[in-house]
Order: sequence, then C-alpha cells, then structure tokens
Amino acid sequence: MAPRHYTSVLDLSREETLHILKQAAKLKAKWNSKQKISKRLRGVTLATIYEKPSLRTRVTFEAGMTQLGGHSIYLGPNDIQIGKREPAADIARNLSRWVEIIMTRSFAHTTVTELAENSSIPVINGLSDLEHPCQALADFLTIQERFGELRGLKLVYIGDGNNVAHSLMLMGALLGVNVVVATPEGYEPQSAIIERAQELAAQSGATVSVTWEAQAAVQDADVIYTDVWASMGQESEAEARKSVFASYQVTPELMALSGKPATIFMHCLPAHRGEEVAAEVIDGPQSAVIDEAENRLHVQKALILWLLGK
Ligand code: CP
Ligand code: NVA
Repeated sequence: MAPRHYTSVLDLSREETLHILKQAAKLKAKWNSKQKISKRLRGVTLATIYEKPSLRTRVTFEAGMTQLGGHSIYLGPNDIQIGKREPAADIARNLSRWVEIIMTRSFAHTTVTELAENSSIPVINGLSDLEHPCQALADFLTIQERFGELRGLKLVYIGDGNNVAHSLMLMGALLGVNVVVATPEGYEPQSAIIERAQELAAQSGATVSVTWEAQAAVQDADVIYTDVWASMGQESEAEARKSVFASYQVTPELMALSGKPATIFMHCLPAHRGEEVAAEVIDGPQSAVIDEAENRLHVQKALILWLLGK
C-alpha cells in the first residue's frame, strides 16, 4: 500500500488534521503529567535531511522520537548533498530500505515531492520554499488552546507571502479560520495557493483574502502573526527588503488596532526584533511564540504516530 505523506497541509483532510491536533493535545497532557517516555516507536528510525539550518525542527523531531522510544538520524547539508551527490529519488529508495520514516527540510519543494514519490515510507515536509505544514499544525494547536473553538476566528498574517504564510492560509481555510494576509506589493503569496485556500474556505465557511493594508487588516484580529522578511535562501535580498517591509513591523500600536485586548501575537521563530516585530510585542504578554515552539514537539509526535499507523 502506498504510504501517506505530509508534504503539504493539503495532504491531510480537515478531519485528519483535527485528529492530529486532538492526539497532539493528548500527548501534550501526558508530557505535562510527567509520563514523558513511551515505547510506541521502539525500534523505529526517522531519517532527517537538512539543506538549511534549524533549531526547533531538529530538536523537536529528535526529542519527539526519543520520547516515543524511537531513534532519529541527522543528515546535514554536507552529508548527503541531495541532488548533487545523488538524486532525491535514489536517496528515497535507499532510505526506504533502512528506516521507517523521513523528514526533510529542503529548498525546492520539488525535492520534497520527489522524495515522497520515490519513497515507500512516509515523508514529512519540515519546511520547503513553498510550505511549512508542521509549523501550521503547531500554530493551530496553540490557537485552539488559547481560544477553544477555531471556527470563526480571524488570523492576520503581516509580512512576506512565504512558506509559513502559505501553510497558515491553507490550514486556516481547511479549519474554518478567517485568514487575511497583508504584504507589500510584489510579496504576495503565490496565486495558486490563494486560489486553493479560497476554495477550501468556501467549503469551511471561512474567508481568505490578501491586501497591502496592514493597519486595516488587523481590525478584529484574534491572532496577529508575522515571520522574517527574508527567508532562508534569500539572504542576499535581506538588506533591500528592510526598506520595502519597514511599514509592516508588528508594533504595540498595530497590535492595539485589533481592538481586542485578547489578541495574541504569533511568530514561527527565529525572529528579528526591530525588523518584522518590535521587542515589546514578541517579549510582551500577548506573545504566544514559546507555546508555538513547544507545540511543534507534540504535533509532530502525533503526526509520526498517525503516518506510521501506530
Ligand atoms: N520554526 C522553525 O521551523 O524553526 P527552525 O528553523 O529553528 O527549525
Ligand atoms: N520563512 C522562514 C521560516 C523559518 C522557520 C524561512 O523559510 O526561513
């Protein structure tokens, strides 16, 4: 039987996504009750491929495997040189004979899909240039913890229409959360993602829209989310982007424009204080960023168990 993968938010239905969030909440409760270690993945190995740096993704996947009784192998950019030393397809075919599951952090999204297409074991996208679906799972678990019901909430993403924005739009639309993305002109999310998110939103009763007006967008927001202005791989554009994005910083004034004292601030991290977010916001009482980071651990454990049918 062909394995299930998680290369995109779109790989899981609304029901499957909600199931992962529910299982993650259970795993988190166990973790908090000090039942930290289980043997559910005894003898199971996760191979993790990194073309880019990471703190959260690496530690949460590795620690998650330890907590479930399994093992994780780190393959860094210089180890396997995906696409250079050998093609992604060959790497997938080899790993499929040795380990039970693969996680990859890649540049091109086609590297993730090429691995998945040639793998007889599940492949998880731990961030590509197109999507960051595990981050979206952690984020919506965090939002659910803070607000209870997801449906009908308003999430406003301010900044670059990047991988994180794409996955938030798709998952928000899937789960009935209204999503507004405010970017500078020319930095909008990809039009295919906007269209797909709008189709999904029409089914879930939510809305997805894109604007250049950050101040108008945040009105009534329950969640204000931002990410770096230059993603990994865009380092050469970082200086130029600082002036383009200057008026898209999440400041205390922008937070106040939501008109709701309960509005939370979210960021996938790593963050650049004084660029996309003011220090007072990310380090202030409305910030949920460390909960998001913690929740990567629990959603990924739930995802791995589900993909492996454990
Ligand atoms: N949010 C996130 O994916 O962090 P890392 O880049 O540190 O893994
Ligand atoms: N958009 C950022 C997210 C980092 C977790 C990047 O791709 O670098």
